[in-house]
Amino acid sequence: MPRVEFAPGAAGARALDAADELGDLRRRFELPRERGRTLTYLCGHSLGLMPRAARRAVDTELTRWATHAVDGHFPDERHGGWLDYHTQFAAPLAALVGAQRGEVVAMNTLTVNLHLMLATFFRPSTKRYKILIERDAFSSDRYAVESQLRWHGLDPKDALLEIGPRDGGFELDSDRYYTLLKTEGERIALVLLPGVQYLSGERLDLSAYASWAQAYGCRVGFDLAHAIGNVELSLHAGDADFAVWCSYKYLNAGPGSLGGAFVHERYAETLERPRFAGWWGHNKETRFLMGPDFRPIPGAEGWQLSNPPILSTAPLIASLDIFRRAGIGRLRAKSIELTGFLARLVEARLAGRVAIVTPREPGARGNQLSLRIVGGAANGRRVFEWLEAAGAICDWREPDLIRAGPTPLYNTFTEVFRFVELLEQIVAYRAERP
Ligand SMILES: Cc1ncc(COP(=O)(O)O)c(C=O)c1O
Repeated sequence: MPRVEFAPGAAGARALDAADELGDLRRRFELPRERGRTLTYLCGHSLGLMPRAARRAVDTELTRWATHAVDGHFPDERHGGWLDYHTQFAAPLAALVGAQRGEVVAMNTLTVNLHLMLATFFRPSTKRYKILIERDAFSSDRYAVESQLRWHGLDPKDALLEIGPRDGGFELDSDRYYTLLKTEGERIALVLLPGVQYLSGERLDLSAYASWAQAYGCRVGFDLAHAIGNVELSLHAGDADFAVWCSYKYLNAGPGSLGGAFVHERYAETLERPRFAGWWGHNKETRFLMGPDFRPIPGAEGWQLSNPPILSTAPLIASLDIFRRAGIGRLRAKSIELTGFLARLVEARLAGRVAIVTPREPGARGNQLSLRIVGGAANGRRVFEWLEAAGAICDWREPDLIRAGPTPLYNTFTEVFRFVELLEQIVAYRAERP
């Protein structure tokens, strides 16, 4: 988008909105309202807004169910049929994660996919049996990893390694990662890291993390819950072994919608790694012969278990269509501007009262800023509650962080400006009346 001189005022925000060539996309979303006002929604990192076309996409499937019943599975002149419904997502998802079509599949939900990937890629031996994760890993990832270790008869106290942030801050300590690989690399079977860290908003250089670990013979997987649809990714070239994601955050597919997985092409035909199998992963030509031998579809599709939930998947069509029109490159460029605007306003107007714990460098973060209100967690929590009451929706993460993420698909610079004004008023009011 064209550059407009930074002017930290309402007029500057309006000028940026006027110059925003993606501004029209906002009209494609339902904007949440309360008591007659449109809320300032900066919470797409938790649940993305509903694309207006989602209703029609779901309705199409309901109508098909009503009119075709079991025949709805099969293609006709108006509909591709439900048997191969999930395959329409491969190309757009591959574009978002930087993969080949056969490397991605829309299936299940994130933690389920993580377990499926761990079943294949975590094959502990007596020599190599440890898993390395980040200390602040999302709880479900930790539970999944610890339960896998136990399931293999291993004790997480010995077999789970963690790297924390640098110097008591929030950025992952990449030096420590490298040192740990040097000392423990030959005992580490698998590394699991996030694309964008959910708490701090830090974006990791996935190719670098993958190649360091692979140099020691470790398998590497990524949790892209906060990365897909938020930042550009290049999983294939970056050589990740696998990745998993959900689609209800940046992909705006609705609560509990279908997640996805990436499996690198080099495993497309391999049968030597075990997997948990189900009929939807079986060769499509012979699936309905119901034979006893499992023959997987080559590529990521071969990790599917069940036929997908069509009704909760349909909104993904509407959302991915918007991504296709806008292009992740242009969205990311706007996102950098939008979040940069938020960061500069907070720094200019709230210095010493609100700290940004997310990395300053735009390339090292996604759209989210994690804010810590000076004056303690209880004060921070009250500020968050007042923001909500005033119609600004972000979220609170223990122990003391407010996460605010302006989304290039539907947020405006004016909203960001209003959010900071509101935050400033609330912080000042609380400072006067603690
Ligand atoms: C980083 C991260 N990992 C995993 C999950 C769990 O996702 P699911 O409930 O789809 O398994 C979430 C959910 O918000 C998440 O943010």
